Amino acid sequence: MDITVLSLGGSVLVKDEDPSAYLSELARMLVEVSSNTKLYIVAGGGRIARFYIRAGRSLGATEQYLDLMGIDATRLNARLLVAALKEHACPEPPREYEEAALAGARYPIVVMGGVTPGVTTDAVSARLAERVGATRLVNATSVDGAYTADPKKDVCAKRIPRMSHEELVRLVTGTAEGAGPTTVFDPIGAEVLMRTHIPLTIVDGRSMKNLKLALEGKECVGTIVD
Ligand code: UTP
Repeated sequence: MDITVLSLGGSVLVKDEDPSAYLSELARMLVEVSSNTKLYIVAGGGRIARFYIRAGRSLGATEQYLDLMGIDATRLNARLLVAALKEHACPEPPREYEEAALAGARYPIVVMGGVTPGVTTDAVSARLAERVGATRLVNATSVDGAYTADPKKDVCAKRIPRMSHEELVRLVTGTAEGAGPTTVFDPIGAEVLMRTHIPLTIVDGRSMKNLKLALEGKECVGTIVD
């Protein structure tokens, strides 16, 4: 059976004030996919993390402390997804990789959040992919792939349909600084994938159909890194 790790951006997971209908639909799709692949999901912190990190920074908290608040937010989002997945997922989000791998032997779906300060959930998903020997890693985010520049800031930015691991590392290196960075993929995670040769698909996770195709390892709109 394939093993798929999904880095699920917080902006994809919690889109609005009442995400319950959307989360039920997402959970249905994930359960369907899990009949053909073992599914490990790493939930991002999204705006809940950013809210706490911004407020904590104004109060003078250290970067390490802000990261810990970010991790708490990712774990809260993980719990929300577990609530939607019900008995299909491990009820308690694992706190580290070994625990996640053990949970994967018992449940079709495992959902976790952040692990240690100084990285983002993209890096966690890459390390988890390495630990469980994943077939693929899917990064579900709020853009439909990696671009030559930030598509939200530069109208001339073009989507890159396929690139090598080395090209991804070059693209993202030097973009992350301090708690709560926003980049298409965490540079530390990109390094792990380059070392382990695990293929990555970057997709717009807000398109359920496209996300399902990516999780099944089928052709989809996005960026393939291999
Ligand atoms: P995210 O992974 O959600 O970061 O973690 P992000 O890049 O802001 O996410 P998206 O893709 O836009 O949703 C939120 C914050 O939590 C801390 C970091 O400060 C991170 O920016 N964090 C998370 C850690 O310190 N360690 C972890 O393992 C995970």
